[in-house]
Amino acid sequence: MVNMIIDGKEVSVDPGMTVLQACEQIGIEIPRFCYHERLSVAGNCRMCLVQMEKSPKPIASCAMPVGEGMTIHTNTPEVEAMRKSVMEFLLLNHPLDCPICDQGGECDLQDQSIAYGIDHSRYQERKRSVTDKHMGPLISTTMTRCIHCTRCVRFATEIAGVPDLGLLGRGENAEITTYLEKALNSELSGNVIDLCPVGALTSKPYAFIARPWELKSIETIDVMDAIGSNIRVDVRGAEVLRVLPILNEDINEEWISDKTRFACDALSYQRLDRPYIRKNGRLKEATWNEAFNTIAATLKKVNGPDIAALAGDLADCESMIALKMLMQNLGSENIDCRQDCARLDPTVRSSYLFNSALAGIDQTDAILLIGCNPRWEAAVLNARIRKRYLESGIPIGVIGEKSDLNYEIMHLGDDVNVLHDILAKKGRFSKILRSASRPMIIIGQGALARGDGHAILGLTRKITELYKIVDNNRGWNGFNMLHTAASRVGGLDLGFVPGPNCRDTEAILDGASQGSIKLVYLLGADEINMERLGNAFVIYQGHHGDTGANRADVILPGAAYTEKNATYVNTEGRVQRAYQAVFPPGEAKEDWRIIRALSEIIGKKLEFDSLAQVRAALVEANPNFLNVGTMSPAAWNKFGIDGEITDMTLSSHIKNFYMTDPISRASITMANCSKAFANNHFEKITNNG
Ligand code: SF4
Ligand code: SF4
Ligand code: FES
Repeated sequence: MVNMIIDGKEVSVDPGMTVLQACEQIGIEIPRFCYHERLSVAGNCRMCLVQMEKSPKPIASCAMPVGEGMTIHTNTPEVEAMRKSVMEFLLLNHPLDCPICDQGGECDLQDQSIAYGIDHSRYQERKRSVTDKHMGPLISTTMTRCIHCTRCVRFATEIAGVPDLGLLGRGENAEITTYLEKALNSELSGNVIDLCPVGALTSKPYAFIARPWELKSIETIDVMDAIGSNIRVDVRGAEVLRVLPILNEDINEEWISDKTRFACDALSYQRLDRPYIRKNGRLKEATWNEAFNTIAATLKKVNGPDIAALAGDLADCESMIALKMLMQNLGSENIDCRQDCARLDPTVRSSYLFNSALAGIDQTDAILLIGCNPRWEAAVLNARIRKRYLESGIPIGVIGEKSDLNYEIMHLGDDVNVLHDILAKKGRFSKILRSASRPMIIIGQGALARGDGHAILGLTRKITELYKIVDNNRGWNGFNMLHTAASRVGGLDLGFVPGPNCRDTEAILDGASQGSIKLVYLLGADEINMERLGNAFVIYQGHHGDTGANRADVILPGAAYTEKNATYVNTEGRVQRAYQAVFPPGEAKEDWRIIRALSEIIGKKLEFDSLAQVRAALVEANPNFLNVGTMSPAAWNKFGIDGEITDMTLSSHIKNFYMTDPISRASITMANCSKAFANNHFEKITNNG
């Protein structure tokens, strides 16, 4: 420990800390603009100046490491005068834009000028102006407001891994620019809006929409991927206006992907806000009673085993358990939450979890990616892999398509033979896995959503065991399943899978196209081939008019993730709650309530009337649902099969990051991003193999 004196107090701090961090540790807040704990130290705004005894000049506390015997003063008249001077310089060229600036009310410069600003300017000359830059469909720029803190440049280069931003020129001619007027091509680009301490970079879709004091904020979770990023949803009246990240070190640190942040405009478009019934080939508006009665009349003509249900990627656990129980009451166990036909094994929990936890990436010393593209499937997780790569230069092998993941990869091939080689201890990556102390496999749905998925799963398990990627003695389990659907782990945990000898997704679709499945209940399932539903009667319960609603015979309008209190389980197996921020539009209702109401009308009443009772049913189905917010380790066991593997290449099943689910497909902002970026996705290839 290092002993020092700050404002007359003796303190002991860790060596390697900066003076600013040491001050924070004892509760002294130092004003700053350029310093950010997750970015490298730039030391260029000078707002954090403090006095250090025996130093002829003030020091930038964010850039000065602590030293034994240091004496620091943060509250002297001299320090106050220095900060006022820095503020005066920052404001020399700053426009008086606050009334028309989107940062107003949540601006660091505004806040700190209250403490250190002066009420007049000594500057008579003209202020400089800077041309605004084009940064794509998400970020609006007013570069005259820029204070050159370079947080955005450091984020793009260090965290996002896209060196698209830079500072050109010197002194009064310094400008932040995208060099060639090129959009910031990163799936994490929106985070620069949060990082920019002033209104130079603001949200384009949110421009001039609202002031912070008009908004109500609700803390909840995201469902655009299976990470379960912690978010804050800002609403005004019945409208969700923006989504911002909340710090959670175990999950998303303080970042969110652009889809999480910007797809929220779709919560106002293409909504299913009333029930519909198909009459003479056309969907017609109906009342709830008419919709329920139509379903009841059809169910009377159908036997239990001829009914099936599929849960989509955004379904919450409460609605899945309600639908599972309703199907049981109807005499059917033809249910599946794996609408992509991924050959996941629901009987062994460790086979479908990201066992090491997302934070486990910070400890790993080798990663093998199989059939996944973490950049598009879980952008925030990819940023964590990049962070680990930059810290320690860990080897990262890829079996699957070559793509730019923003860190150096060893491309081992795109076919499953590479897995056979690794199992036979052949090839360069097998040596790496052997010598690693905490190796990790991340396997994606692209490797499992295929006919030989069970065999690939079995092969991967054998590799995991051979190389001690699971080692109970060291408490390390590096076998990690990367899901893309927010509903998937919850569905598997609560058993939304076929009963013994019952039909899975593939068999349900086969049955429907051949006529043996006569009624299919789609709980937000939009990513199946609707043509394979044949002549089956289709009930679609969901919130957006997507492919499922287009095919449906009856539509039951449900609630989106911001409109209900619901449970989701992320890819690590962590149970999290989403909280209602606004009411569902029109006549739409919370999903479990719809299923409960339907059960009564069809004479198969479900025995619960409150959310607490539905949650009790979840706990009964799987006690893990009691552990909200935490991860419970899952026991290792045998899973997968020994079987024939085809020579089909491995690849991620996400081809367009911006359009993966009914919400993002309805988003105008995501459509604009798709146009601007999607074609570039696989253009840049980095490969040292
Ligand atoms: Fe005002 Fe802050 Fe905007 Fe500058 S950046 S105009 S200080 S709100
Ligand atoms: Fe800093 Fe914002 Fe300027 Fe970037 S644009 S350097 S984040 S003030
Ligand atoms: Fe220290 Fe900017 S915060 S120089």
